[in-house]
Amino acid sequence: MKETVVSGIRSTGKLHLGNYYGALRNFVKMQEEYNCFFFIADLHSLTTHPTPGDLGRTVREVVVEYLAAGIDPEKSTIYIQSDVPEVAELYLYMNMNAYLGELERATAFKDKVRANPDNVNAGLLTYPVLMACDILLHHGTKVPVGKDQEQHLEMTRTFGNRFNRLYQVDYFKEAFAFTYSDKLVKIPGLDGNGKMGKSNGEASCVYLSDAPDVIRKKVMRAVSDSGPTEINQPKPEAIQNLFDLMKVVSKPDTLSHFEELYNTCTIRYGDFKKQLAEDMVLATDPVRSRIQEISNDQEYVQRVVKMGAEKASESARKTIREIRDIIGIKRLY
Ligand code: TYM
Repeated sequence: MKETVVSGIRSTGKLHLGNYYGALRNFVKMQEEYNCFFFIADLHSLTTHPTPGDLGRTVREVVVEYLAAGIDPEKSTIYIQSDVPEVAELYLYMNMNAYLGELERATAFKDKVRANPDNVNAGLLTYPVLMACDILLHHGTKVPVGKDQEQHLEMTRTFGNRFNRLYQVDYFKEAFAFTYSDKLVKIPGLDGNGKMGKSNGEASCVYLSDAPDVIRKKVMRAVSDSGPTEINQPKPEAIQNLFDLMKVVSKPDTLSHFEELYNTCTIRYGDFKKQLAEDMVLATDPVRSRIQEISNDQEYVQRVVKMGAEKASESARKTIREIRDIIGIKRLY
């Protein structure tokens, strides 16, 4: 039996290089070897209260970008989280078994509280429970995600194991973060600090759908400094980030060429950024060129999500039947 892979991306709109290298690229590879469920986490995105119009548009954008990146709906199950409402039922059961202290300690929750102190809603607090349910619903054991999601997977194991202990069953399996490289990645942004992400501002993100000229402009404006003044000088964060980006989009030779120029204080950031931008344009080209074409094919997009909803619902209904039985929820009529 093939192992089951489950992963999702929130529907907050077009995907950036962080989503691609942290998650989506691995989805595409994994579908060849595993039984895969890839979904668009629209329920998770409700924590930030998108307008109804934006929610529908962004869900569709992410479906299209999954397909454009190469996820094959015949090999994987691509679905929209809200098309499988069983996850909300499981979320209710698992919430009975998740404790305030552990939820408050989650790093992602603390970051969100710091960034948006006026929107500390209960959905944000229990975000990791819903995420665990996405995985547990299909008995996923491998979860392709970026570094920022590692703690959520640890929580998923905690919730699943606790359920097993409480009901004295061996029902849920343990799920682990997965990547093909040696460690989970964190793709930095262009703004000099932190990871690439919408919450760090549009300028920090390069989107898969950005036109080549937009990518060039963004990279040329990326934060840098006046250059190294000493041989083998350690790189400040903003510069290290640009080198880290080059590591994922460029050839190893290109990276070592610019490393050498940096270490000998002969680097010209204009040339460095130009090369980085061109390599980003090349890396995103195959996906970008398919986005428009797939987006125009309304009938295909609809067929994909309908098929995905059916396949995911079948797996979800089975889990919910078994869970109700374990918990002791029985119909009296
Ligand atoms: P989201 O939408 O924030 O991120 C989606 C995926 O992209 C990865 N990612 C990054 N990886 C590396 N560097 C970055 N700068 C970067 N930015 C984003 C994230 O690690 C993630 O893999 N909570 C999940 C969505 C989710 C989920 C799930 C994932 C909901 N339920 C169940 C797996 C299994 C999230 O972070 O979404």
